[in-house]
Amino acid sequence: MHVALTGATGFLGLRLLRRLLDTHRSVTVLVHAGSGDALHRITRFFALTGVPESSLAELPGRLRVVETELERPGLGLSGRAFQELADGLGAIWHSAGSINLAGDLPELRRTNVEGTRNVLELAAAGRASPVVHHVSTAFVAGSRREGVAYEDELDDAYGFENAYERSKYEAEALIHAWSGEHRRPVVVLRPSILVTDLPPHPELPSHPFQVVERILRDARRTADPGGRPRVRLVGRPDGRLNLMQVDHAAEMMVRLAGRTPSGGVDTYHVVHDRDVPVPTIAALLERLVEVSIDLVATEPDDPSALEALVDFYPGLTTYLTHRRRFDDTRVRALFGSSAASDRVDLDYLWSGLVPRGLVPAGPPPTAAFPSARHA
Ligand SMILES: NC(=O)c1ccc[n+]([C@@H]2O[C@H](COP(=O)([O-])OP(=O)(O)OC[C@H]3O[C@@H](n4cnc5c(N)ncnc54)[C@H](OP(=O)(O)O)[C@@H]3O)[C@@H](O)[C@H]2O)c1
Repeated sequence: MHVALTGATGFLGLRLLRRLLDTHRSVTVLVHAGSGDALHRITRFFALTGVPESSLAELPGRLRVVETELERPGLGLSGRAFQELADGLGAIWHSAGSINLAGDLPELRRTNVEGTRNVLELAAAGRASPVVHHVSTAFVAGSRREGVAYEDELDDAYGFENAYERSKYEAEALIHAWSGEHRRPVVVLRPSILVTDLPPHPELPSHPFQVVERILRDARRTADPGGRPRVRLVGRPDGRLNLMQVDHAAEMMVRLAGRTPSGGVDTYHVVHDRDVPVPTIAALLERLVEVSIDLVATEPDDPSALEALVDFYPGLTTYLTHRRRFDDTRVRALFGSSAASDRVDLDYLWSGLVPRGLVPAGPPPTAAFPSARHA
């Protein structure tokens, strides 16, 4: 069965591609037209994470690169090229998306909702009725800060913390409508916040904590408070967030995709079994940006210039008040203890944010796809 993957150059997409190459002789990557040499970026990721030269040399023969415009009907391809692409597929992985938490809704809708619509159109056109594996996010649960979010829930009643969450919710709603209308299965994979302990590198895609670090650092520089300033952030000392190792998330997703779909929409929370306490995240930020963070119950009446700048970004302070849990009973029932992953702690997060040597000291984090086990 031939698979296509969108978003293969992304933080998650690269790990999904690595997993897919473990079991598929070739993969079609639907890359972002005009966004730079995708094959080179993919090859550099594999090289930097320890894949042997012999496997790297095989990549051009194992990847079929198709430049696409996700936001345009027909993915910006000619009618004929679109139909030929669709007819050659047994499965489509849709991981491309904008994760810009500060983006505005029209822009996010174009990439995340219209992009999903156009990928579904590809699936509808395919002669072999390819199965769609859609990468969503556990954060479609929106502004629900307490309690338990279940895999079968998709509800906008709580509102959303930012336009990104809303756009991902709308994409999932579209999938439900499409699946019902076309009577086609879709697997929806909802990871939590993805993290790595691989040190940052200019040739690797950034991950969400790198973005938060950059924003805090820029705010600190702009406000220029000197010393080690105190920053009062609205947050709960008993709050917690779910952070999942990106390599483990990719492994779980590919395993889940290997199951026979029910025929409708099968949704899975791909989350860590232990949440990270909010004070651990505050301690990480203190260490990274040399500030002292006080978690406070309400916004200060007299915010400093630094506090005002930090509060402006919709991807940090809102999440420090979260205490909800994501239920993943379905995944654990399928995979038992193999669904569990190592603890994500301060040291792990620190490793993924502080530049070091290029290649981690240990072995590469996952198999190096030396040869595909299936065609
Ligand atoms: N990172 C997380 O913590 C996280 C958590 C939960 C869910 N997710 C979901 O996981 C998926 C992948 O996220 P990621 O972390 O891999 O993000 P990422 O590193 O920002 O990568 C995004 C990918 O999408 C592609 N893309 C973006 N805009 C596009 C467009 N207009 N047309 C075509 N391709 C486009 C990018 O291609 P170029 O690089 O060539 O632009 C890149 O390959 C997203 O759907 C996201 O919502 C991510």
